[in-house]
Amino acid sequence: VENRVYKISIIGAGRIGGTIAHLAALKNLGHIVLFDIDEGLAQGKALDLSHSLATDTIIGTHSYQDITDSDVVIVTAGTARTPGVTSRDALCEANVAVMRSVAEAIKSYTPSAFVIVITNPVDVMTYVMHKFAELNRNMVLGMSGILDTSRYNYFLSQALGVSPKAVQGIVLGGHGDDMVPLPRLTTVGGVPLMEVLNQKGLDEHALTQVIEKTRYGGTTILNLLKTSAFYAPASGAVEMLEAYLHDQKKILPCSVCLNGEYDVRDVCVGVPVVIGQTGVEGVIELELNEMEQMNFKKSAQSVEMMVKSIGWTS
Ligand code: APR
Repeated sequence: VENRVYKISIIGAGRIGGTIAHLAALKNLGHIVLFDIDEGLAQGKALDLSHSLATDTIIGTHSYQDITDSDVVIVTAGTARTPGVTSRDALCEANVAVMRSVAEAIKSYTPSAFVIVITNPVDVMTYVMHKFAELNRNMVLGMSGILDTSRYNYFLSQALGVSPKAVQGIVLGGHGDDMVPLPRLTTVGGVPLMEVLNQKGLDEHALTQVIEKTRYGGTTILNLLKTSAFYAPASGAVEMLEAYLHDQKKILPCSVCLNGEYDVRDVCVGVPVVIGQTGVEGVIELELNEMEQMNFKKSAQSVEMMVKSIGWTS
C-alpha cells in the first residue's frame, strides 16, 4: 500500500474552492494549496482553515509555482452566476480566458496532474482545459453530473416520501437546461422507479415536476442565496477527488471528452465514467432508447455550438 501524502491544488479560493479545501482537509486527503488571483483571499482562507483544524498542511498563494507536482488540480476559478443571469453560458467568454491562464500554469508546473474542472459553463470549460493544457482525456473531467444527480435524487425522494439516499438516479448530458435525467434507469431501493411511482399512485406529472425542479435547481438556489450553490458542487468534486486518489473505481457521472461513445465525438459532456488511479478508466455506455439518445445528442450539440461560438477550431 502506497503511503504517500498527496498534493491537491485548488485554483480559485472562492465559495466552492474554500468548501472543497475544508472537506478535503476534514477527510485528510492530502496537503492543500489554495490559489487565487486575490492573494488575500487565498491566504485568509488557508489560515482560517488551518486554525479550524489545527493543521499546517494548507497554504494560500497567488504564485503558480506553488502548484508544482500536484496529484490533483481542481479548477473553480472564474466568474459565477449572479441573480438575473439565467444561463451559465453567459459566463463563457470571461471564463475561457481564465481557463487559458490556468491551463498554462498546469502545463508548466504540473502536467501530469488529474484535473477536475468546476468553472461554468462546465462542459465547455472542461473541453478548453483539455485542449489548452494538452491533457489526455483520461486526466481531465468536469464536475456536474454528480451535482445534477444529487438534485434529482433529492427532489424525487421528496415526491416519493423516502430518503434521498434510497434513490439511485442518473442524469446525463450537459450541465444546463437540457440535461438528461433518465427515469427509466432510476431505481429506488433497488426497485425500478416506474414501479414505485405506480405503487404510490403518482403519475407522469409528478415526475415532470421533479425533472423541472432538477433542471432549475441551480437557479432556485441562486435566487434564494443571491450567489450560486457551493456546498453540493464542492461535495461532487471531493467525491471525484477521493475516487481518483484512493483508486475506488467508482462509477460517477462526469463531463468527459467523448470519442465516439454515445455517437458523439470531440465534445465534453456528462456520462458515467469509472474513476480510479489512472483517471478515467472507462466510459460506461448505457443503452438508451430513441428519445433518450435524441435528448442526449441535443444536449451534446448545444455544448458543441457553444464551443464553436467562442471561435474554437480544433
Ligand atoms: N485565476 C485564479 N483565480 C481566479 C481567476 C484567475 N484568472 N479569476 C477569478 N478567480 C477567482 C476569484 O478571485 C474568486 O475568488 O475565482 C474565485 C471564484 O470564486 P467565487 O466567485 O466565490 O465563485 P464560486 O461560487 O466558487 O464558483 C466558481 O464554479 O460552479 C462554477 O459557476 C461557478 O464558474 C463558477 C465557479
